[in-house]
Amino acid sequence: MSGAPADHAAALAALQQEAEARIASAPSGEALQQLRTEYLGRKSGRLTSILKVLPSLGADQRKGLGQQANETKALLERLFDEAAARLSGARPAEVAADLTMPARAIWRGAKHPVTLAVERVTAIFRELGFTRFVGPEVETEWHNFFALNFPKDHPALDLHDTLYVGDGVLLRTHTSPLQIRVMQAYKPPIRVLVPGMCYRKDAFDASHAPAFYQIEGLAVDEGITFVDLKATLALFARRFFGEKTKVRFRPSYFPFTEPSGEMDVECQICRGKGCATCKQTGWAEMLGCGMVHPAVFENVGLDPERYTGWAFGMGPGRMAQQLFGVAQFRDLYDADVRLAAQFVDAE
Ligand code: DAH
Repeated sequence: MSGAPADHAAALAALQQEAEARIASAPSGEALQQLRTEYLGRKSGRLTSILKVLPSLGADQRKGLGQQANETKALLERLFDEAAARLSGARPAEVAADLTMPARAIWRGAKHPVTLAVERVTAIFRELGFTRFVGPEVETEWHNFFALNFPKDHPALDLHDTLYVGDGVLLRTHTSPLQIRVMQAYKPPIRVLVPGMCYRKDAFDASHAPAFYQIEGLAVDEGITFVDLKATLALFARRFFGEKTKVRFRPSYFPFTEPSGEMDVECQICRGKGCATCKQTGWAEMLGCGMVHPAVFENVGLDPERYTGWAFGMGPGRMAQQLFGVAQFRDLYDADVRLAAQFVDAE
C-alpha cells in the first residue's frame, strides 16, 4: 500500500470511524470476535495492513502516522473489550426474561381428611353451643380409667392395650378422661367438645391404628335425658353427612355410661349395600355414647340426684373415611400427600 501521507491518515481515520460504528452495533460476542480479527488481526487485519506502509515513509511522516495508528489501535481495543463485556452480560438476562415460559404451578398444600373431619364436627357442635376443650395426652391411670368407673381388673388396663410411660402414668387410650377434667374444673351447665390423639398398643388392621384421633362430647345439666342424646347425635349426623343420612342406635356397654349405646351411619361408600369397608353390614360405626354413670358424677363431686348428662366418643378417622369415600382406612395413615391433595378445595 502506498500513496500520499495525507491519504494514509485519512484512510486510518475512516477505518477507525467505521470500526467504532460496527463495534457498537455488533449483535453477539461471536460477531464481535470476527470484527476484532478483521481490524486488529496480526497477519491480515486492516489496521495491521496500514501499519505495513510505515517503513516506506519518511521519518517525520512515519512518526505522525505511527502515533495515530497506535491511538486508533488502543481505542479499538478498549471498545472491543467494553462491547465484549456488555454482550456477555446481556445474555443470561435475555434468558431469564423469557416471558413466554409457562408459570410454575404453586403447591398450596392441603389439610388431611381427618383434620377436615375434626374441623367440620367442631363447627357443627359449636353452633349447638359446645365449647372446644383440649387436655394432656399423658394421663394418670385415675383420670383415664378409675374416675371413669373402670373396675381395677378391666381388660383395657392390661399392659397389652395401654402404653404406660411410668407408674400409674400412661398415654391416654381415649379422650374420655377429659370428661373428668372438665367436670372438676367447671360447674354445670356443661357442653364441651374435646378433640385429640389417643394411643393403644393395637396393631394396624382394617379399622384400627395404634395412634388415632377421637372427639369426646359431654353435656351435663339438670333434667338432661336420653332423648337429648339421640336427637343431638342424629341431627349432627345429618348435618355432617347430608339431610337424608340414615343412622341407627345399638345398645352397648361402657363402664362410664348407663345406659350405653353406639351409633352407626349407613355406609356412605356402598350406600348400605354392603362392601369391604363396612364388612358387608351396610353400616359403619361412628361413635359410642350414653348417659353419664352416677358413679362418675360422684367421682368428680357432682350430685347424681341433681344432675344428669350424656357423653359420646367418636372416631374422626372413620368419619373422614365415610365422608370422603376413603375406602382403605390404612390410606389415612400413609402420609401420601396425594391423598390430602384431593381435598384442597374441601374446606
Ligand atoms: N371412650 C370410648 C372408647 O374409646 C368411647 C366412648 C363411648 C366415649 C361412650 C363416650 C361414651 O363418651 O359415652 O371406646
